[in-house]
Amino acid sequence: MAVKGMNLCSVCCLVLYFVAAVLAGRDFYKILGVSKSASVRDIKKAYRKLALQLHPDRNPDDPTAADKFADLGSAYEVLSDDEKRKQYDAYGEDGLKEGHHGSHNDIFSSFFGDFGFMFGGNRQGQQDRNIPRGNDIVLDLEVTLEEVYSGNFVEVVRNKPVAKEAPGKRKCNCRQEMRTTQLGPGRFQMTQEVVCDECPNIKLVNEERTLEVEIEQGVRDEMEYPFIGEGEPHIDGEPGDLRFRIKVMKHPVFERRGDDLYTNVTISLVEALVGFEMDITHLDGHTVHIERDKITKPGARLWKKGEGLPNFDNNNIRGSLIVSFDVEFPQTQLDDNQKEGVRGILKQSSVQKVYNGLQGY
Ligand SMILES: *[C@@H]1O[C@H](CO)[C@@H](O)[C@H](O)[C@H]1NC(C)=O
Repeated sequence: MAVKGMNLCSVCCLVLYFVAAVLAGRDFYKILGVSKSASVRDIKKAYRKLALQLHPDRNPDDPTAADKFADLGSAYEVLSDDEKRKQYDAYGEDGLKEGHHGSHNDIFSSFFGDFGFMFGGNRQGQQDRNIPRGNDIVLDLEVTLEEVYSGNFVEVVRNKPVAKEAPGKRKCNCRQEMRTTQLGPGRFQMTQEVVCDECPNIKLVNEERTLEVEIEQGVRDEMEYPFIGEGEPHIDGEPGDLRFRIKVMKHPVFERRGDDLYTNVTISLVEALVGFEMDITHLDGHTVHIERDKITKPGARLWKKGEGLPNFDNNNIRGSLIVSFDVEFPQTQLDDNQKEGVRGILKQSSVQKVYNGLQGY
């Protein structure tokens, strides 16, 4: 044992430490790396990020990976549930009513399947070529630009057929085999036959399941969130995957180009000439202030750095908001006096330049 070189006191300390640790329970906030005041969204975000890092499939060399992942699952289960979180905040882990001694397998099935994880190519590693797989299902998930800007979690209730054991036997693993029968000397007949094994019977039962998809900030069109094993079942094998494909919907005010947002503003001719001040309401409700006292020409563009979308890979980097102006002219005609007035004020001489605008001359 490792205690060999220790004196009695440090052994005592060690024992005391363990007792204290067990009594106090696990620090779920620390496990998730969030503060005590973290919002449900922060908790979900933290969970998803850590689950990706800590998933045992990704850490095959770490013998404690399953434990770490299970701790993470427990922390998430408790802190993402208002009731349980209150209990936990007041009395610690021991205060939770029906303790959490779920086996690791429970934790895998109850948590891991419920979130979409971007496990690029992870599945291939475990896949056995001989096991038949159900079809993958791809579902378009329409998201608003507001959701892309701020992030969101959406719940999708999935009604899916699940294979359950049923009484009786069924034929399975069927394959073609050749059989040769001797009909007489030098005469054979070859017949092709279907040969099957006997398997326990299975029936497909519809089960409802709530899947939670995170719409990550800055997510791009066509990105996919796979839910491993949530696709079509296969009676002789494993189910396929369910993949949500992001479709960003058109927005009446903002147009997305990469991480940049474009918007158009119509101002009056007077505003174009004498300047103006205005606020644009952004996707999360905050306002972007615009102030001009110079002349604003039609087609002029204003760049607001950092007011674009958060970058998908690094949310701290943001694109720009590009505001283009067009000018609305007065609806009423000017009388002779007013015309004279405008000439007097602007004192602009005649231009009347004729040129090929398409070629930029
Ligand atoms: C709106 O702004 C875009 C980009 O700056 C510009 O190309 C487009 O012509 C503008 N649309 C109108 C109707 O002015």
